[in-house]
Amino acid sequence: MSPLPNPIESPAERGYGRVSIREVRGKDAAILRRLLTENREWLQPWEATFPGGGGATPGSQPFRPVVRSMHRQRRSGNGVTFVMLLDGQVVGQLSVSDISAGALRSASIGYWISRHVAGQGVTPAAVALAIDYAFAELRLHRIEICIRPENSASLRVVQKLGLRYEGRRERYIHIDGKWCDHESFAVTVEEVKRGMLERLGAPTT
Ligand SMILES: CC(C)(COP(=O)(O)OP(=O)(O)OC[C@H]1O[C@@H](n2cnc3c(N)ncnc32)[C@H](O)[C@@H]1OP(=O)(O)O)[C@@H](O)C(=O)NCCC(=O)NCCS
Repeated sequence: MSPLPNPIESPAERGYGRVSIREVRGKDAAILRRLLTENREWLQPWEATFPGGGGATPGSQPFRPVVRSMHRQRRSGNGVTFVMLLDGQVVGQLSVSDISAGALRSASIGYWISRHVAGQGVTPAAVALAIDYAFAELRLHRIEICIRPENSASLRVVQKLGLRYEGRRERYIHIDGKWCDHESFAVTVEEVKRGMLERLGAPTT
């Protein structure tokens, strides 16, 4: 296996049908902040929080510094943050984070979309695009997605993608003010030789 790219270059936009992903840009800050604010109630139950308290409410902070820190994360090889687009409009965010090199070559994926486009299959397509990018361009070996057992919509996303269930992680992530159990799902590159998009049923070219 060739070495991990270091630093990670800004990824090219990737798309399938009406859905695409591209790296978050400074000019996305306003729309992301607006979507976070409008969707506060929708996102809050699934939002990571600081164990010591004082975490930010979705949309309450200026987003440009957040985007700059996302770009720093990419340059330092820790993660890549994408926006999800439907028909070219930003509708949510997807992050490939906690990239581990060495003998692990693994990363986590997290995501949210605006409620007004929920249920149209945007997230499964975007996650498939991101996993294909992570295996092909970042040369990772494994991707995991951890989901609260109560989050039936997100559990459907990994089910549609056919990710393998690995088990429950108790009190794993601090979410919405408390330590929450998570179900862990994963895929390694050997399982999707023809790519995740194809597994999702999308023709690849
Ligand atoms: C989880 C989430 C990203 C799924 O995105 P999506 O693009 O709607 O995904 P899908 O279109 O595949 O829909 C998944 C499921 O959501 C549910 N759903 C559909 N429309 C919905 C709506 N309007 N409102 C709520 N849930 C809906 C359905 O159960 C659907 O499964 P189905 O297609 O078998 O009916 C999105 O619900 C979301 O952002 N939720 C809040 C944040 C969050 O939970 N992030 C993930 C943390 S692990």
